[in-house]
Amino acid sequence: MKKIHILPAHIANQIAAGEVVERPASIVKEFLENAIDAGAGRIKVHLEDGGKRLIRVIDDGCGMGRKDLELSVERHATSKIREESDLASIRTMGFRGEALPSIAAVSRLTITSRPEAALEGWRVRVVFGRNKAITAAGCPQGTAVEVEDLFLEIPARLRFLKRRGTELGHVARIIRIFAVSYPEIMFELSSDGRTVFRSRPGTEGVESMWPLAGDDLVRRMISVRGGGGELSVSGYISPPEEGRASSSGFYFFLNKRPVSNRLLWKALNEACRGIMRKGMHPVGALFLEMEPGLVDVNVHPAKQEVRFAQPDSVFRVIYHAVKKAMEHGGELSGQCLHRAGAGEREKTNVLYEQIQAGPGKGRCQDAGSVTLGQAVTEASPGTDLCPLPWETSLDDSRGHTDPGRRADIVRPMGDGEVQARPSGEEDLDPIGQLAGTYVLAQGSNGFVLVDQHAAHEGIIFKRLKREFLQKKNLNSQPLIFPEILERNPEDLAGIKEVSSILSQIGIEAEAFGDSEIAVRAVPEFIASAPGTKKIVTELIDRVLELRHRNASDLMHELLASIACHSAIMAGQKLGRQEMQALLKELSQEGVTRCPHGRRVSYYIGLDEIEKWFGRR
Ligand SMILES: Nc1ncnc2c1ncn2[C@@H]1O[C@H](COP(=O)(O)OP(=O)(O)OP(=O)(O)O)[C@@H](O)[C@H]1O
Ligand SMILES: [Mg+2]
Repeated sequence: MKKIHILPAHIANQIAAGEVVERPASIVKEFLENAIDAGAGRIKVHLEDGGKRLIRVIDDGCGMGRKDLELSVERHATSKIREESDLASIRTMGFRGEALPSIAAVSRLTITSRPEAALEGWRVRVVFGRNKAITAAGCPQGTAVEVEDLFLEIPARLRFLKRRGTELGHVARIIRIFAVSYPEIMFELSSDGRTVFRSRPGTEGVESMWPLAGDDLVRRMISVRGGGGELSVSGYISPPEEGRASSSGFYFFLNKRPVSNRLLWKALNEACRGIMRKGMHPVGALFLEMEPGLVDVNVHPAKQEVRFAQPDSVFRVIYHAVKKAMEHGGELSGQCLHRAGAGEREKTNVLYEQIQAGPGKGRCQDAGSVTLGQAVTEASPGTDLCPLPWETSLDDSRGHTDPGRRADIVRPMGDGEVQARPSGEEDLDPIGQLAGTYVLAQGSNGFVLVDQHAAHEGIIFKRLKREFLQKKNLNSQPLIFPEILERNPEDLAGIKEVSSILSQIGIEAEAFGDSEIAVRAVPEFIASAPGTKKIVTELIDRVLELRHRNASDLMHELLASIACHSAIMAGQKLGRQEMQALLKELSQEGVTRCPHGRRVSYYIGLDEIEKWFGRR
């Protein structure tokens, strides 16, 4: 590496400066960047108490001599840029000369380093920005940086540090991200004496995605390739049916730097629209390569934001590359899609039969082979409920509930005005299905179009809600063999925090070893459905992602998600009896909207029809 020097004020002033030391993970990120810039082949991170007591990062990079070491903790001291023009094409991870002094100001920082050619090493110490001292030290080639007592003298910041497990999770995430971007480097993380993560240098292609996606998913990931103009993009993405409820499983890298940018997310989301189920996000990573002069990384102190010189073309390249990969490389997800493939329909039919038969036990399950209609009507809608404080706002249609009302299938097509129902009591007679998705039925005064998925989802949601309000949780069914889900350390840390929420919806889950979660019980309602593992995975994702939301919104989301998974699907063929059961139940339950607020039915009155044909 070149010699370190202090940037002149006119360059230093052009650098996006600001606080980057937020928590142990942000410190580890800076140290990893420095080690990578120093050409390290091996980087070891060790934490004590989640990094609150100690963070130690050791690399075998080029090291620093005495003079450089002394300068390195000064503000605007860097070896990575020199001229103003260097800012326009940054090729290193660091460039501001800010990280070490910022960290030195809020901790006890010790750096021990020796360059290859030197016979001895040196150690510099700074205590909360004061008392800089340098001494000779025997050490191998490379650099060891230690941060002790982070924020100890800054109680306002100390308070914001989370529990050991949470901080460890954040650090592990950063390391896994870099391990994917630099698969040739050996990364190791240990915490309080235990090894938490060790990368596998030498893995190539999709295999190198394992730190982010896990070994299991990696096998099914789709390759993404594209390019245009000055940009080339490559990467891997999960198949559409393997999405997550959270977007936190997807990463962008620009010239190997992990970055975040609205434009990139927009291109990804647009490309997945209509291919992935609504609200689901892919897992994966895209690696963008472009001439450094065409992108500005000097936008935000954390160096993660970027600004592109040609945003339109970046959008196009990503959009087309992802869309092509998803359309040609993967199967379609059927749950909420109207374009479900044949295989998917088969699956959904099985699911419907199981739902029709009712779950294995409990209030509705006792009925054995009850029909859909019976199962719902047997639940007691009017029981005196004792809601938890946050349950009171749980409604089945986001403010459209009216429990006493019968199905509001009275809205004429066209102007959206609600008319009086032709006959509240009459049974509707199914005529057939439109596009395999809408049930057409006639009454004496007109006909009704029912969105079969939305309607069934609304009915199930109401049932679940009732069960939940009565018992304060959903029935749970223990699994004979626990489902083991591969998870990253931050999820493992989070799982303890959310275990009471999970158990309210019938999921018993706990950390299992260093990288897995054992699910020991699942909501009874989905226990016998095909794809239980996938549904539970999605529910856990949702809980982890939304755990800070208010409790009633969270519970609404979770029950809605279970309902969505359990409901008959768009594109699924229904027999006459099934249609009858659905219509009856819809009417009896008074469901007008699905949990997402969409209407479930439209009524077209005979009056209206006669007007169309000039009979009135
Ligand atoms: N692990 C390391 N090995 C060798 N040199 C290092 C190491 N860490 C830091 N340095 C040297 O110390 C200098 C200051 O590091 P610091 O992280 O503060 O700034 P930077 O990396 O130049 O820019 P940024 O603030 O954007 O990270 C670096 O420019 C580099 O020369
Ligand atoms: Mg740096």
